Amino acid sequence: MSTKVESARPTRFTAQHLRKEQDGRLYNDVQNDYALPADQEEAERLNSQHKALIILFGSLVPEPLKSSLLSQSSPRILDVGCGTGIWSLEVAQELPQARVTGVDLVSINPPNYPSNVKFEKRDILEDFPKGWEGSFDLVHARYLIAGIRDFSLLLSRLTRLLKPQGHLIIIEPRAQFYTNGADVRQVCPRTSRLIAVVQEAMDRLGIDPNPGKKVSAYLRENTEYQDVTAQTLDMPLSPRSDDPKLFQMGLAHLPNSLSLPGFPTIDSREKLVLPVWLIWATRK
Ligand SMILES: C[S@@+](CC[C@H](N)C(=O)[O-])C[C@H]1O[C@@H](n2cnc3c(N)ncnc32)[C@H](O)[C@@H]1O
Repeated sequence: MSTKVESARPTRFTAQHLRKEQDGRLYNDVQNDYALPADQEEAERLNSQHKALIILFGSLVPEPLKSSLLSQSSPRILDVGCGTGIWSLEVAQELPQARVTGVDLVSINPPNYPSNVKFEKRDILEDFPKGWEGSFDLVHARYLIAGIRDFSLLLSRLTRLLKPQGHLIIIEPRAQFYTNGADVRQVCPRTSRLIAVVQEAMDRLGIDPNPGKKVSAYLRENTEYQDVTAQTLDMPLSPRSDDPKLFQMGLAHLPNSLSLPGFPTIDSREKLVLPVWLIWATRK
């Protein structure tokens, strides 16, 4: 492992132990619940999505939590379902005193990464390694929508990992497009049919199209948590705005948008947005 912090870069997934499906794409070999591939094309999609999300939310870690982590000498951070590891790597650079662990169903091995980050191949729904319970100052889980069928179960497990006063961050999109403030199903008939197909597929796979809503309610009702903050912000799906920030976000998100089934044929796509939940809370 290198300590060349300045050149840390997210990586592709390690090709070992991936299985090839009939569609020619590579998938994890741990379980079948996670619906998306784990190959170079997917890595590029995730990295562009990360860039767009950082512009949307303005930071890797919301400010009150970042200050709390900065005040500690060696905070322990877990990135659940870390994908290419891009968030883990950037957080490890931004908080050099932190110790960051990224876990995913697939292995990753970035060429150069800071010595305060490590990656493990692991299913977060399986037994935790020794020493994990009650040991993390921050647990971050982003975009697990296509993998987790029961978010209440995930949250109860992540809660067990947090120290008292430890923080949880959950970021999840709502699988519904809007245009000019209106649900596209109401204003774009062609898109409406496309969305119906996508939602049917999600139903079949048991995927909740709006897990953020459940997560926010779960944390607010759970007496183990305090200071629950939940917000949704709109992610532009393509660079069609005179506003420089919206343009940059849409541009960063475009490779990801183009991978959405039928996106290139969507009508009114110039103003399409996807709401994204950012939720954080502190364990008592
Ligand atoms: C859409 S990707 C998001 C990756 C990363 N969090 C990001 O935002 O860039 C979801 C990731 O979660 C991982 N994942 C899904 N279910 C998981 C589980 N049960 N345990 C660990 N990782 C899981 C997948 O392998 C995939 O890499």
